[in-house]
Amino acid sequence: MNAPQLIQKYLDFFKSKGHAIIPSASLIPSNDASVLFNTAGMQPLVPYLMGGKHPQGTRLVNVQKCLRTVDFDSIGDDTHNTFFQMLGNWSLGDYFKKEAIEWSFEFLTSKKWLNLPVKKLAVTVYQGDRNVPRDEESYALWRSVGIPEERIAFQGKDNFWIAGETGPCGPSTEMFYWTGESVAPQKFDPTDARWVEIWNDVFMAYNKKEDGTVLPLKQKNVDTGMGLERTLAVINGQKSAYETDLFQPIIKTIEELSVKKYSSEQRSMRIIADHIRAAVFIIGDENAVLPSNVDRGYILRRLIRRAVRYGKMVGIFGAFLVDLAEIVILSYGNDYSELKINKERIKTELYNEESKFGKTLEKGLHEFERMVPLGKISGINAFLLFQSYGFPLEMTEELASEKNIKVDIKGFLAEYEKHKELSRTGAEKKFKGGLADSSPVVIRLHTATHLLNEALRKVISPTIHQKGSNITPERLRFDFSFERKLTPEEGKKVEDEVNRVVKLDLAVIRKEMPIKEAEKLGAEKEFGQKYPDKVSVYFVGDYSKEFCGGPHVTHTAEIGKFKILKEEAVAAGVRRIKAIVE
Ligand code: SER
Repeated sequence: MNAPQLIQKYLDFFKSKGHAIIPSASLIPSNDASVLFNTAGMQPLVPYLMGGKHPQGTRLVNVQKCLRTVDFDSIGDDTHNTFFQMLGNWSLGDYFKKEAIEWSFEFLTSKKWLNLPVKKLAVTVYQGDRNVPRDEESYALWRSVGIPEERIAFQGKDNFWIAGETGPCGPSTEMFYWTGESVAPQKFDPTDARWVEIWNDVFMAYNKKEDGTVLPLKQKNVDTGMGLERTLAVINGQKSAYETDLFQPIIKTIEELSVKKYSSEQRSMRIIADHIRAAVFIIGDENAVLPSNVDRGYILRRLIRRAVRYGKMVGIFGAFLVDLAEIVILSYGNDYSELKINKERIKTELYNEESKFGKTLEKGLHEFERMVPLGKISGINAFLLFQSYGFPLEMTEELASEKNIKVDIKGFLAEYEKHKELSRTGAEKKFKGGLADSSPVVIRLHTATHLLNEALRKVISPTIHQKGSNITPERLRFDFSFERKLTPEEGKKVEDEVNRVVKLDLAVIRKEMPIKEAEKLGAEKEFGQKYPDKVSVYFVGDYSKEFCGGPHVTHTAEIGKFKILKEEAVAAGVRRIKAIVE
């Protein structure tokens, strides 16, 4: 089976069960500023899982573009990719466990659909905790469709699914497929890596609040996720997605360019293929991100530069990313037309970034070699590699670990900060939430901006998201994605909504989370932050949450009366609101 066939089967199956097919949302989250990229199919659908009405109804099915960078080090193994596609079917307060499980089983095992042998399947279900009962219902449902007792394992937190720390969540049941060469053992052991997880049905019936309480949602949802890459490999009996049509054309081209064999350079070629594919999707996204030293741009830069370095390692001479990008666009452009539309941008950005880095890579590696005998890479040296040779910190760490030596990260961060202060390159301003002016009126406008951001989504459309923001003592300016002019009534509704929340006098709370937690959310460590081991998120009651450096008022009533002055176009698909507080 190839990828288009698997996708088609999935969509057809759920269509036959009354689901509407919806397109993938952008890779860049529009309603959750706490993650840099969508890490799961559910993220763009959060407003609907929380009770918002979806225009296409209560049963949806889709293929969502996702990107995860937590597992950077595992890229190259058999089961991880940075960019991947998630097949998902959704019940928004419609069907629940019975249909979800029966349909999962039918899709996997029925002759008409995937026709996988039941003897190679196993499942996990939730063992329960103090808020959520043990999932006996799912257990019984799996038994009734024909999964034997010894192939069902009750598990703890692995079977409670939440994207990050707060929001819609619930117990899950995961399906595993036996990939070992021998016959599948009768007793299922979820820790045996030969059992590969292919599908996750989450019963999203809860909402986790900032204070840690878990309360029932007003509706019971189903969120399922089947990783296309992984599942395709598994059902084809292939070792990994790299052996499937999703990657083979890219890998073949890498073989040609390097005049080496995939079989002898497996890990490096996989990394190059994974990273170029991810980079093409990021730059080609409808909300494009370009290489930079902060936020998403930095993740992109790391992907590109790491691909370039591995390219050199497998012996490719000269620039090669554009050649590979062409193959990615050719392979995926029919399903993701944005790649075709943005083809020139993709090629130009990749070419520029590769030439910039290509020029210094060789010299930088040479410099690095000279540092190795010192037994450790000092902060100053890591910064030198960053500043003069364009080595992302993580690349230096990777090079160092290949040599079994350490990098002084703290020292690097200190250097980075010092340099930033000296050069005032403006980089600081690019870090999210950095306000140049923090006079009281600017602070009030800043919190008003967060409310406006959320209000637009609540009142106008959940697809709206921030494109830019600028605050002076005179006014706030907020750019957001939307196709058309707001009507005067809509403008008024947004204004009223902000003022309603102002009056509620919600507390504004800042939470610092360890980088680890933020990484779990899918956020990448930003080494330019003031608190390098922490990131900060601002919550306005449970109305809004944004990844932000502040500062903000302590309670929304301090904002005063919010007034929209103007709503206008900035560019195609981008609108701008100017507003004041009185
Ligand atoms: N949200 C769940 C996951 O990402 C199911 O889609 O695994």
